[in-house]
Amino acid sequence: MKIIIAKDYEELSEKAFEIMRAVVKEKPDAVLGLATGGTPVGLYKKMVADYLAGGTSYRRVRTVNLDEYVGLTPDNDQSYRYFMRDNLLDHIDVDLANTHIENGVAPDLTAECARYNALLRELPRDIQLLGIGANGHIAFNEPGTPFNSETHVVDLTENTIAMNARFFADEKDVPRRALTMGPKNIMDAKKVLILACGANKAEAVFGLVNGAVTEQLPASILQKHADCVLIADREAAALIGG
Ligand code: F6R
Repeated sequence: MKIIIAKDYEELSEKAFEIMRAVVKEKPDAVLGLATGGTPVGLYKKMVADYLAGGTSYRRVRTVNLDEYVGLTPDNDQSYRYFMRDNLLDHIDVDLANTHIENGVAPDLTAECARYNALLRELPRDIQLLGIGANGHIAFNEPGTPFNSETHVVDLTENTIAMNARFFADEKDVPRRALTMGPKNIMDAKKVLILACGANKAEAVFGLVNGAVTEQLPASILQKHADCVLIADREAAALIGG
C-alpha cells in the first residue's frame, strides 16, 4: 500500500484530486467508483472547480457508487444519489445516464443486488474511491462482513446509524438498511484510493495499514490489493507515524 500523509484536509483533497485527474487524463472514458460521506467532499469541490476552469472533462466518464440507503428515493435529499448530484455530478459534464448507484427503492432488493453486480462486471472500475469508518468499515461493510461478499443488503449497526444521524432531522429518520458493494467488488477495482481524515479514524487507519487482515476490520483486506493508495491527514495517521 502506498501511504501519503497530508498536513491537513486541504492537502488531502488536493492529492486525491491529482490522482483522480491522472486517471481521467490517461483514460477519458474511465470508470470511476465514487463514495459519499464527508471525507470526499473536498475532492469533489476540486473536481468541479477544475472542470469549471476549463480543466478535465468527464464527458465520456462512467461512474458507479458504493452504496445507497434502502427506502430513500433519488429526490430525497438524504439519499446518496442526491448527495452525488449535489456535490459533483450536476456540476461537471458527465452524462447522468452513465452514473450508477444502487436503487434503494427497488421492489426486489435481491434482484437489485444481482443487477448491480452484473453492472460492475460490465464496467470494470479504473479507480475506486473509499472513505473509512471509525470501526474500519468500507462502504457499508461492517465488521464481520465476509471478504468474498458482493453487493448485498445490510442492516446498519447502531453505531453507523448514530454516526449518520447528524445528517437527519431526527435519528428515527435514519434508514435502518442499505445496499452496498461488498469487499469483493471493491477489491475488483484496478486501483483503490482510500481517504482518512481526523483523529477518530486513527485506530482504523492503524488496522488498515499494520493490523491483521481480518473480517473484523473490513478495510484490512486492502493490504492485499495490488494498487491501493491511502491518503491520511496527520490526525488520522497519528498511529502510523504521521
Ligand atoms: C460512503 C461510505 C462510507 C464512508 C465512511 C466514512 O459511501 O460508504 O463507508 O466512506 O463511513 O464516512 P466519512 O467520510 O463521512 O467519515
